[in-house]
Amino acid sequence: MALFQHQNGSVVSNKHVFIRSRSQRRPISTSVICGLMLFCLGVISLLTGHMASELERYSQRIVRRRRSLFNLDESHKGPIDIWKSEYAKYFYGCSQSSAKFPDAISEQESNGYLLIAASGGLNQQRTGISDAIVVARILNATLIVPELDHNSYWKDDSDFVNIFDVDWFISYLAKDVTIVRRVPDKFMRSMEKPPYTMRVPRKSPPEYYLDQVLPILKRRHVLQLTKFDYRLANNIDEDLQKLRCRTNFHALRFTKPIQELGQELVMKMREKATRFIAVHLRLEPDMLAFSGCYLGGGDKERYKLREIRKRWETLPEIDAVAKRRQDKCPLTPHEIGLMLRALGFQNDTYVYVASGEIYGGEETLAPLRDLFPNIYTKEMLANEELKPFLRYSSCLAAVDYIVCDESDVFVTNNNGNMAKILAGRRRYMGHKRTIRPNAKRLSPLLMERDQMDWDTFAKKVRAVQRGFMGEPDEMRVGRGEFHEYPYSCICEKPASDIVGNESGDHQSQQFKENLRVKEEKQ
Ligand SMILES: *[C@@H]1O[C@H](CO)[C@@H](O)[C@H](O)[C@H]1NC(C)=O
Ligand SMILES: *[C@@H]1O[C@H](CO)[C@@H](O)[C@H](O)[C@H]1NC(C)=O
Ligand SMILES: *[C@@H]1O[C@H](CO)[C@@H](O)[C@H](O)[C@H]1NC(C)=O
Repeated sequence: MALFQHQNGSVVSNKHVFIRSRSQRRPISTSVICGLMLFCLGVISLLTGHMASELERYSQRIVRRRRSLFNLDESHKGPIDIWKSEYAKYFYGCSQSSAKFPDAISEQESNGYLLIAASGGLNQQRTGISDAIVVARILNATLIVPELDHNSYWKDDSDFVNIFDVDWFISYLAKDVTIVRRVPDKFMRSMEKPPYTMRVPRKSPPEYYLDQVLPILKRRHVLQLTKFDYRLANNIDEDLQKLRCRTNFHALRFTKPIQELGQELVMKMREKATRFIAVHLRLEPDMLAFSGCYLGGGDKERYKLREIRKRWETLPEIDAVAKRRQDKCPLTPHEIGLMLRALGFQNDTYVYVASGEIYGGEETLAPLRDLFPNIYTKEMLANEELKPFLRYSSCLAAVDYIVCDESDVFVTNNNGNMAKILAGRRRYMGHKRTIRPNAKRLSPLLMERDQMDWDTFAKKVRAVQRGFMGEPDEMRVGRGEFHEYPYSCICEKPASDIVGNESGDHQSQQFKENLRVKEEKQ
């Protein structure tokens, strides 16, 4: 269960440098560049405390430090614009392949058919599908439209075609990977049923697929990879990273009914206010019970959650209070509200709450509503339109995904798959403000809340949240999951191309291209 996985362990200090991979390779002697890079990286690594072993995996890339713009911690102590990053305009999402990236192998010439069973909920499946495309590419395989997990906690029997626009998916990626809807009859007749399956280890590098999976694919012609999520390494060749981004940010588009409902909710929010915050809460009763956390609601709540917890016979007894104190729990709606108010959002701000079932329902949300009376959920904004989707948790999650994606500010109380995927997407789409609570340092502060006046508290919250606001400089090569920090797909605009200057160089055109693709989506 990665849903309650905490970010604290992996947070790196970002005081020193900003490293970013260049979007394009240049035709200069690679050995000279590699040598120089390795030297620079050595220096940088010493500064940042990166281990020497990490050098190797960066050596394929041209990495550059950039002090002037991104030395934010030293030069930018003043208050930030809470609604949008002023540095966002220096970047754009870039996921076009390089000229040396050959077209997809045709179905006839491919090494076989690859079947993928994506696992988990909607957003976990999204990472699986993005990685599956890359794996099919590595193997020169023909990919069968991925199968979605029907047995996860989220219990949803939707198929790919119910959630994603399958024609768009196939055609958008046609140059990269050949995708077909099913295994042709000719192979169906000769293959084992069910097909030969394999489960690859997590985060396998491309070499693993070539050494261990390719021979089997060639021998059997049809191969299924099961439980497919996070099965591909984070750091891979740049063109393959960009393919991940093309899949995740462009090819995976929701079906029209989902897209329309999502956009309708966005429109309803925009009619009420020109800008709004989306808060994603992960507080399902099962999830909460499983994690051993509670919401600070006293003995009754602890008892109830302990009862739910008994469903899993092997789980140990957990002291929920102690667990909270070790900040191993998601922030409560009240704590999220306090953080947002401390950051400077006024009580008249419009807030969209995205969530599945919330433990305790309206009662749990009440403290957030006290701080932000203008709270809306999909159930409140939609009427009849939501009905056809109610049985399908993935469709509901997709609707929330759209509203969260379009919001001006996005905040979560967890570091689950949806939080990560959306954070990555929002960076790609122009570093839209994305706030991740620095739980490790917020928790003690929230516990001492009544021992200080509001202004002191607010000042401390702002200090603690520095580096967790979705600023461009928070992203570094090799930090976290690629899906959360898609560093290969975010490029710097040339100085001449900053907003206000309509220069026509190719990078700016690509930026516009990306925007166009996004607009088409809507
Ligand atoms: C895939 O096809 C390309 C040619 O497009 C070839 O260079 C590469 O070696 C092939 N890889 C595999 C695993 O078949
Ligand atoms: C916001 O707070 C002020 C007082 O601090 C109050 O007068 C006002 O009614 C509140 N606005 C909303 C929307 O609750
Ligand atoms: C706009 O870009 C051009 C080059 O493309 C440059 O010569 C010019 O100075 C830029 N103008 C501004 C206002 O930055």
